[in-house]
Amino acid sequence: MKKVLVTGGAGYIGSHTVVELARSGFEPIIVDDLRNSHERVFKGLEHILGRKVEVHRVDCTDPAAMGRVFAQVKDLSGVVHFAAYKAVGESVAEPLKYYRNNVGSLLVLLELMAEYEVKHIVFSSSCTVYGQPEELPVSEEAPDRRASSPYGSTKMCCEQLLRDAHVADPSLAVVLLRYFNPIGAHPSARIGELPIGVPNNLVPFITQTASGIRRSLTVFGNDHDTHDGSCVRDFIHVVDLAEAHVKALTWCESREVPTCEVFNLGTGRGHSVLEVVRTFEEVTGRELPYTIGPRRAGDVASVYADPGKAERVLGWKAKLDLGTALRDAWAWERTLRE
Ligand code: UD1
Repeated sequence: MKKVLVTGGAGYIGSHTVVELARSGFEPIIVDDLRNSHERVFKGLEHILGRKVEVHRVDCTDPAAMGRVFAQVKDLSGVVHFAAYKAVGESVAEPLKYYRNNVGSLLVLLELMAEYEVKHIVFSSSCTVYGQPEELPVSEEAPDRRASSPYGSTKMCCEQLLRDAHVADPSLAVVLLRYFNPIGAHPSARIGELPIGVPNNLVPFITQTASGIRRSLTVFGNDHDTHDGSCVRDFIHVVDLAEAHVKALTWCESREVPTCEVFNLGTGRGHSVLEVVRTFEEVTGRELPYTIGPRRAGDVASVYADPGKAERVLGWKAKLDLGTALRDAWAWERTLRE
């Protein structure tokens, strides 16, 4: 079995990708210090997979500790790199923390990959690199904008770092995956998003409001230039997203001539925040208290993907719809409160 290092494998997207990698015949090895995740994810993974996954509790920015992981694991075929901070607002207040962690961990990884001759890396990037695109749906050809937050800048910086590393060593194969808005949870309700503190993202805030932890959702603005005034996003089920990583890694490994390639991962459909609220109410049968508040600083009005390249090249397409993702997110929320 091909061994794949999954940094941030205890996190939200990382844990779902661990499941899909294992199911596709890879041997995922998690590196995560649990600073932004929770022990219970390992129980969930064990339940879903019927076995334990190898875990190294290591800070990915620590070169010595990461060096020991590489020395111990041996014969790694590739790396899927998730470990990063992702709170947009926090990144504005603490940019150094974001650069040190998000860029620092990638530097450590790339140095070790060079030393141990590991030649495949799949990187977790974001549609934030597009800012507010001039044309929608946005394709990979659209120009990068100046990022609206240090979080976004770290993603752009890491993409550039990987492009440069590929130029310097053309035998290093790189896949940059630009996620749109991942939501939902595993259909088993054994793993899902575990925000620490008050959630920044829409769907965990919705599920926590529906379960009574939060009093009411604030919809950030109904005066955006969209059909109903609330922001439009491309919400993609986390299981679809996880499957894309397996396709990306398999494709990357099968290339005769290694490349550095970028792919959008979205559904191709935009849904407004108010549509998400209505769909949540429909699929769960629960009323969601909400009010309209002012716009949130830094939010773009509308962004959704042209996912055509991932379908043409990787043979990947999102299959699950918004209602399924919201139902799965709600099932996960209820499991958490049991
Ligand atoms: C942001 C980033 C994205 C990043 C993600 C990770 C940008 C442009 N996007 O996505 O790159 O990967 O965070 O955390 O930087 N909303 C409400 N009320 C709430 C919460 C959210 O109305 O309580 C609205 C927001 O205004 C937005 C939509 O819901 O329009 C989605 O918000 P969110 O889930 O935070 O994701 P993004 O900001 O789109």
